[in-house]
Amino acid sequence: MNKIGLFYSFNTKKTSKIAELIREKFTDVEIDMVNVETVTSEQFIAYDNIICGVSTWFDGELPNYWDEFVPDLEDMNLSGKTIALFGLGDQKGYPENFLDGVGILGEIMENQGARLVGYTPVQGYTFESPRAVRGDKFMGLAIDYENQSSMNEERVLAWIGQLRSEFQ
Ligand SMILES: Cc1cc2nc3c(=O)[nH]c(=O)nc-3n(C[C@H](O)[C@H](O)[C@H](O)COP(=O)(O)O)c2cc1C
Repeated sequence: MNKIGLFYSFNTKKTSKIAELIREKFTDVEIDMVNVETVTSEQFIAYDNIICGVSTWFDGELPNYWDEFVPDLEDMNLSGKTIALFGLGDQKGYPENFLDGVGILGEIMENQGARLVGYTPVQGYTFESPRAVRGDKFMGLAIDYENQSSMNEERVLAWIGQLRSEFQ
């Protein structure tokens, strides 16, 4: 499998914990951790296998650091790129916007030609927003630290197993 670029904000504690867990458990592939707060387009397109970590802030919006990178993403040709998203959200506190950041980022990346992988079933979550959902799946991995943190590790491990067959 090709090297993976894992993009997330180094300043967000919960997203960072999940990113580090992914790197720790995804033992059979080289993973570069890249801080999305300082990322350039060149750094992003240097990888064919990409993981992005995004939480949802501001009631259904991207966090600042991803938001600032959107104009660059909208200028990129992402065809040939395989991208897996993991999102952090709070399904009880924000059921109307649960994990919207994954939906927003996923739509942009698909529009630019990326192939999104790592979809996971919505079973086991209670929420209302359809933004991050396609059919009966999230457009990535859904992590809810506020309400289901005890499931984080098993969810991450299952997702890594899935990515082993879905990445190139
Ligand atoms: C002001 C505020 C707004 C939030 N809005 C949403 C939201 O719209 N949808 C959602 O799923 N989670 C929302 N959350 C929950 C965060 O996404 C969640 O706490 C996440 O774990 C934060 O991860 P981070 O600290 O790594 O960014 C919000 C949290 C805060 C404090």
